[in-house]
Amino acid sequence: MAQDFLPFTRPSIDEATIAGVVEVLRSGWITSGPKVKEFEAALSAYCGGRTVRSFNSGTATLEIGLRLAGVGPGDEVITTPLSWVATANVILEVGAKPVFADVDPVTRNIDLDLVEAAITPKTRALIPVDLAGLPVDRDRLYDIARRRNLRVIEDAAQAFGSSWKGRAIGSFGDFVSFSFHANKNITTTEGGALVLPDASLAAACEKLRLQGVVRTGEDGMEVDTLGGKFNLTDVAARIGIGQLPHLAEFTERRRQLARRYFERFDRDLGCELPVADFENSNWHMFQIVLPPAVKRADFIARMRAAGIGVGVHYPAIHLFALYRNRGFREGQFPHAERIGRSIATLPLFPAMADADVDRVCAASRTILREAI
Ligand SMILES: Cc1ncc(COP(=O)(O)O)c(C=O)c1O
Repeated sequence: MAQDFLPFTRPSIDEATIAGVVEVLRSGWITSGPKVKEFEAALSAYCGGRTVRSFNSGTATLEIGLRLAGVGPGDEVITTPLSWVATANVILEVGAKPVFADVDPVTRNIDLDLVEAAITPKTRALIPVDLAGLPVDRDRLYDIARRRNLRVIEDAAQAFGSSWKGRAIGSFGDFVSFSFHANKNITTTEGGALVLPDASLAAACEKLRLQGVVRTGEDGMEVDTLGGKFNLTDVAARIGIGQLPHLAEFTERRRQLARRYFERFDRDLGCELPVADFENSNWHMFQIVLPPAVKRADFIARMRAAGIGVGVHYPAIHLFALYRNRGFREGQFPHAERIGRSIATLPLFPAMADADVDRVCAASRTILREAI
């Protein structure tokens, strides 16, 4: 009997959440309102009482974080070339210059020694990315930021539920940006949240989120800032409210599945496995780097034929035409380039069965044995 297709990820949304969404839809108030406030309060509680504002994407959160940090034209922002392109695009969006520092080939996260080397008098901020949920070393990161007087906008889009030395990502630090895109560990379909370093920034954050508008009294309205249209809807927030209580159980299940991958994945196939971190990472993804002899497109196609979805997260950003046209070129960030060409995301999501991991490992073995 043919097995069901196993995607590389799939959200888990319970019936109570679905019923809750129906209630919001019937309530007559479907855009930003009481559910957004409730979701933000729950996120703030998760982040140790820090001020959190929700957005309609984890791209908007990064952009607003940069704006609130005062980053703009003439400034340089250092980030990783191995991330979703949003991480660098937001730097261009605010008129600043992206500066890349290559990744560490083992963690696949930005190499903090190379960050230090890339700092110039124009550097204003750092955007570290916790790829696959594995946190960048927060001690070293904030040591650099303090010594060099730099702002940090943590791109923790993939790190909701991760921690650093027992403290939840989001509960400390400068700006912290989360995404609740459908693939993330908790979702609002699309959405994001920005943790603010200081509650006094909340009003400015809300202005930038919605057209710069400030309302007073029954009918007062003023606009003194150019804001965007980045608000989350109550429909989306209700999904987030239903997801949040499952975070710990989702993370635990992801960890179990990741452990099984380490037990079952054939080490003789020449693949690089991720760092086996069972303390800090939320196991947002389980990513292997294929051996050089294997064409990733063939591996993906053959896995699909075997009923298994494989993702690509991500090609190196500086090699996209948008960035090549700004002077970046092949050879500048060799680790990110090599990993970006050969990285493959295997299925990992809370509703997966142990047997699914075994199936992925067996299919990978058959396909890669033939390819190498
Ligand atoms: C590392 C990283 N940064 C930023 C984003 C942007 O988030 P969103 O898709 O919610 O705009 C994502 C989402 O895929 C991401 O993975």
